[in-house]
Amino acid sequence: MSGRSFYIETYGCQMNVADSELMAGILSEAGHWPADDPADADIILVNTCAIRESPEDKVIQRMAQLAQRKHLRPDLVLGITGCVPKHVGAPMAARLPDVDLVVGPDSYRRLPELIANAVAGPQVDLRMDPDETYDGALPVRAGGVNAWITVMRGCDRFCTFCVVPYVRGREKCVPPGRVLDEAAAAVAQGCRSVTLLGQTVNSYRFGDVGFAELLRRVARIPGLARVRYTSPHPADFTGEVFDAMADEPPLCPHLHLPVQSGSDTVLRRMRRGYTKGEFLGLVETIRRRLPGVSLTTDVIVGSPGESEDDFQETLRLMEEIRFDSAFMFKYSPRPKTWAWKNQEDDVAEDEKGRRLREMIDLQERISGEIYRSRVGGVVEVLVEGPSRRDPSRLQGKTADFKTVVFTTSARTADAGDLVEVDILEATSHTLRGRLVLRGSLSLRP
Ligand code: SAH
Ligand code: SF4
Ligand code: F3S
Repeated sequence: MSGRSFYIETYGCQMNVADSELMAGILSEAGHWPADDPADADIILVNTCAIRESPEDKVIQRMAQLAQRKHLRPDLVLGITGCVPKHVGAPMAARLPDVDLVVGPDSYRRLPELIANAVAGPQVDLRMDPDETYDGALPVRAGGVNAWITVMRGCDRFCTFCVVPYVRGREKCVPPGRVLDEAAAAVAQGCRSVTLLGQTVNSYRFGDVGFAELLRRVARIPGLARVRYTSPHPADFTGEVFDAMADEPPLCPHLHLPVQSGSDTVLRRMRRGYTKGEFLGLVETIRRRLPGVSLTTDVIVGSPGESEDDFQETLRLMEEIRFDSAFMFKYSPRPKTWAWKNQEDDVAEDEKGRRLREMIDLQERISGEIYRSRVGGVVEVLVEGPSRRDPSRLQGKTADFKTVVFTTSARTADAGDLVEVDILEATSHTLRGRLVLRGSLSLRP
């Protein structure tokens, strides 16, 4: 079949963003080309997330909406990919009769073939392939100064609330040579930052290369200004990782450390593999070894059996650690998980809402204090481009992962430049300032 235009809409975590870029690469290799707008596309793929109920519902609604385009364009090929079809399984095709492709995360190499076969009827491929790491497939990146690079697919941890091991399968690591090639290719395309991705990324091991060694090798790629990774699991750290972060300047002083809860009872029920005391010990080690490091986290409120005391303990932990920012979620029971089978979702919806609001209020206050403490200082910013809200300003990130929006005057800057910005004001999420007129400016090499 001759080439056709495609559009990929992406939901969920950065791993899905990276997978969409991989799919774009596989489709381009097969002679298809990207469309800027779904209205112009012959093929529309929706790459989905199953982590909580609401994103899943949203995706199903979106598929129904897109399916209406078939009245105008009967040859449109509509596909659902990623974690939702893998979670819901083949019944998905029946629920969404106008969907032509139902494809799980281990079957993206087969997309060109499945698209070609779709004329004959819906194509479903939800295999789990323990060896598929997409070695040799080249992503087509959306652009920007940062490249997402998947170094580990799947997860072996089976936290009781989480659907990831069921939809992504068991942990599998990408060979280090492939990671280095991808990072070098991203630099050659103009990226100055890479983010290594995995659900428990710090448990990476391929042969004799552990995560610390991988970090060091990536950090030494010429032309890379910044290297980050997400999400490390709190129980999987080794001291060598902190040594690497202390030694290699491109390794950014920021860690996303998902804590989930501050109550030992809840942590045990979640099978997270650490206690509150161990988590606090880890934070202490990190702050001693990497002074000034910023810490962010994920927290769940209202998980099965979470009492008011458990919740208050989590708030106290957040108060004690003072994360720079946090993603906070209401527990959502996920079919197939241990918690869904064995634990009652017994915190009422409005109570989950109250706990979430209280937690957000606390974190907003803490983040506001931390962000405002930067006012009056100068920070180094990797420029991403015009601010989304106000295109007359530029936007970028500090090395410790704070968003900075700034004005320019006689002197301006381009995406990929490292510049200094005077911080004049701050909210709980953003630093605002102006480009330093004199001083260092490192242009892209
Ligand atoms: N691998 C990462 C988490 C990936 S999922 C880790 O272990 O830390 C991203 C976040 O979604 C989790 O950290 C958790 O806070 C949240 N999450 C996962 N399952 C959830 C559920 N069933 N309900 C609510 N939030 C959930
Ligand atoms: Fe889910 Fe736990 Fe794996 Fe994270 S470590 S992806 S929360 S099972
Ligand atoms: Fe969602 Fe799948 Fe990522 S469930 S969080 S898109 S691994």
